[in-house]
Amino acid sequence: MPITRLTDSKNISANEVLVVGFAQTDNGPELLDSAIALEPTSKSEISEAIKLTNFSGKKSELTFLTIKSGVLCVGLGKVSKTQPLEMETLRRASAVAARALAGKPSALFALPTSTTVATHAVTVGVELGAYTFTQFKTKTEKTSEGLKQANILVKDLFVNKSVFQEAQIIAESVKNVRNLVNTPPSHMYPETFADYVKKSFKRNAKLTVEILEEKALKKQGYGALIGVGQGSVNPPRFVRLAYKSRGADFHLALVGKGITFDTGGISLKPPSSMHTMKCDMAGAATVIEAFRAIMQLDLKINVSAYAALAENMPSATAQRPSDVVTTFGGKTVEVLNTDAEGRLVLADALGRAQKDKPDLIIDIATLTGAATVALGSRTAGIMANKEEARDQVFASAKETGEAMWPMQIPEETRTILDSKTADIANVGFTPNPAGGMMVGAAFLQEFVDENIAWVHIDIAPPAFNEGAPYGYNGFGGTGVGVRTLVHLAQKLAKN
Ligand code: BES
Ligand code: MN
Ligand code: ZN
Repeated sequence: MPITRLTDSKNISANEVLVVGFAQTDNGPELLDSAIALEPTSKSEISEAIKLTNFSGKKSELTFLTIKSGVLCVGLGKVSKTQPLEMETLRRASAVAARALAGKPSALFALPTSTTVATHAVTVGVELGAYTFTQFKTKTEKTSEGLKQANILVKDLFVNKSVFQEAQIIAESVKNVRNLVNTPPSHMYPETFADYVKKSFKRNAKLTVEILEEKALKKQGYGALIGVGQGSVNPPRFVRLAYKSRGADFHLALVGKGITFDTGGISLKPPSSMHTMKCDMAGAATVIEAFRAIMQLDLKINVSAYAALAENMPSATAQRPSDVVTTFGGKTVEVLNTDAEGRLVLADALGRAQKDKPDLIIDIATLTGAATVALGSRTAGIMANKEEARDQVFASAKETGEAMWPMQIPEETRTILDSKTADIANVGFTPNPAGGMMVGAAFLQEFVDENIAWVHIDIAPPAFNEGAPYGYNGFGGTGVGVRTLVHLAQKLAKN
């Protein structure tokens, strides 16, 4: 549920914290007015009080003043006529402030919202910053519960209404992804994931909901997905959602990796790299939730989402290194490493997506540990068969503040995957970690017709935050990718 509400009233109720923003200047921190000026008295009171602290106004810096029911000051960095406030700075500052207010009943965010994009940024920032995941705690301390209510101060309610609703829809989808990712694998497996989709999407004239169970998967040729899932007592599922918008002329296909837990299978992972593997369905969660937001925003675009769901377990029935599977499109794959399972389930999913003849296919997946080696732990890699499509995704990532970086798929990479037995192998025969993220992409590229634009986003690094909170991301699932995909759909949609 959203915690934000728009208000044009400066009245602060009892127990409500006021949040204000400061620019960092050579003369010390400077209070930045919200679109609607604060009362002259409280404004001077805050400005006087802040002088007695070490607060400088640098980005996301926080100081709490004990004026009235409390004033939380947050830094917005250097802002001037020549250096306008960046929306990502505002988004992060809003989030950091919201997170610091965990356990508080209410706050009034009087941050600079003179434009509707700024209102959007504050709304998204507050919603994501205040996110907590307490579902599995029987005793929750107040502070782990998060801020309850956030009133966002704007000058004109009417002008900001639609942008505010849009920001709320997008933030809800991001939070849903976080919930799906954070839900432990004891509770989140292919069947329960599919049930979530079934419950939360009601079929109608514009919306198709298709969920394939084992029997159908076998019959329809999802050999790679079955292979990955065959070691688990929780059988695989395939989800397909399709939304037809009136008057749309572009079909966007979103494909997600949905490994609800990745042990590595028979090519078992060491414990140190296994305990975060409940995040391995983040791609699937992202496409489902991006789809939901695109549908709720009523964008004039046809969109489909495909989630390939399986649990990768070692057992007597698990697939073996050197097994061969036949993918949806008919190509055979030699499974030399059962831990390179994401590309297997995606091979089927890409094949299925292609059958619907989309104009653009984007897959999103926690595909390789090598992505983190290449880009660090907060940045996703973007690869594609068409540079233009890759750059469109990159542009949307930049616009929404999601850290992603374009990478190539070097021509020679494909030969690494030559198989003596099948059409292609899922890893190189001789283990070599060099360029592992691109090798993954080169594999996927084999399953997409070269005439269809295709983009691959490897979100293995940023999907799950194991460290301290940063910006709007706390511990655990981040929901990265939703905002980029929705932004791109907005760009591709008819006006
Ligand atoms: N799910 C992992 C990738 C991953 C690693 C995601 C870290 C999130 C954080 C993937 O299935 C995997 O195991 N990849 C292998 C590929 C290798 C066998 C070629 C890897 O990265 O080691
Ligand atoms: Mn794996
Ligand atoms: Zn995996």
